[in-house]
Amino acid sequence: MNTIIAPSILAADISKLGEEISSIVQAGADWIHIDIMDGSFVPPITFGRNVIAAAEQSCDLFLDAHLMVEHPETHFEDFIAAGANGITIHQETCPHLHRSLSALRSLGVKAGVSINPGTPVETIFPVLGLCDLVLVMSVNPGWGGQSFIPSSLEKIKALSEEINHQKLSTYIQVDGGVNETTSAQCVAAGANVLVAGSYIFGANDRAKAITSLR
Ligand code: DX5
Ligand code: ZN
Repeated sequence: MNTIIAPSILAADISKLGEEISSIVQAGADWIHIDIMDGSFVPPITFGRNVIAAAEQSCDLFLDAHLMVEHPETHFEDFIAAGANGITIHQETCPHLHRSLSALRSLGVKAGVSINPGTPVETIFPVLGLCDLVLVMSVNPGWGGQSFIPSSLEKIKALSEEINHQKLSTYIQVDGGVNETTSAQCVAAGANVLVAGSYIFGANDRAKAITSLR
């Protein structure tokens, strides 16, 4: 599988979001990663349905919504109507994870589940068959520009083995502190979708940054 690159617009200049999205489309991005934070599960408040809709207007790429919010299921229909193609929820916010993932699938989008650095990867093994994507957070969620947590690599490896064991084709996504060095480590461990915010948007040459991640 080719490595999918998903720039996170958390690091974009929001005052010119349309231009920023065009720039990363030109630079070779595969997906657009949209970080939605509610000020409760994580301290910051970021984007909602309007930003998803704006991204949808600005490009034809897969819109990958990462929901760092409590009660994520209350937003599914709204975010899908706005244009989200995939929705990733946090294991830590979902006491009824099986039900929430099933709901996403029945709504016709890619269903993803994410785990924080402090959450054991084995906690999502029972629901792997319901996931199109598992997001291994390699920083504590809430902010861009943090350093990659190396123990994430062991979790990616264990997840990759379990996906093979269950004969699934689930995407393994990694998010946080991804740059030209950590990306290679993640891919070697089994990751195939890389999210990067500051590394791509902060680069003078965004196309070169994306190529270096691949
Ligand atoms: C953090 C977000 C990330 C963030 C990554 O909570 O989920 O998507 O934008 O930023 P960088 O790539 O700068 O670590
Ligand atoms: Zn994210």
